[in-house]
Amino acid sequence: MEKRDKIAVYPGTFDPITYGHIDIITRASSIFSKLIVAVAKNSHKDPVFTIEERVSFLKNSLDHLDNVVIDSFDELLINYLKKVKADVIIRGMRVVTDFDYEFAFAAMNKKLAPEIDTIFLMTSEKYSFISSTLVKEVVRFGGDVSGYVPEIVIENLRKKLNR
Ligand code: COA
Repeated sequence: MEKRDKIAVYPGTFDPITYGHIDIITRASSIFSKLIVAVAKNSHKDPVFTIEERVSFLKNSLDHLDNVVIDSFDELLINYLKKVKADVIIRGMRVVTDFDYEFAFAAMNKKLAPEIDTIFLMTSEKYSFISSTLVKEVVRFGGDVSGYVPEIVIENLRKKLNR
């Protein structure tokens, strides 16, 4: 498929990145000429990993995708998109319970910047139940999350969370 000559931004907290996110990133990167994965500082979620750590896990896991750039932001998402001259927001939709939050998020962003659209990709079925919170919970109690997050994330989660 011919890639669209548009810049897309995939924003999130990525605390930490999972294969569910990587699935969305891989598919979006095959549609758009450039995809910026934008890591939100998002202190209200009280992330386990610092912004530098989250960015470095993303870089480590995505360096095979040559049209993907990793960046961070700490402002209104729409202002960040304008700054990097992006056209589209990418969001993943896992299950129906994501819909209400995503609907409000997309609607507010559309109100703030009518020229920017949000495009949803359905998360692949095998990752549809994963969340960063669930992964952290399993590791905290010694469970196995291989197959759901990259190896570098597992090592660092164990260091941070294992008691
Ligand atoms: N696979 C696996 N997990 C997924 C996923 C997928 N495809 N898609 C989402 N998730 C999970 C995430 O891991 C995360 O899990 P968690 O809550 O356990 O941490 C959860 O779904 C939602 O996370 P995400 O999609 O990353 O969004 P977020 O809520 O962490 O981030 C921002 C939201 C940062 C994009 C948003 O708050 C933002 O833009 N902030 C900037 C300020 C702003 O503009 N606010 C909005 C005004 S309308």
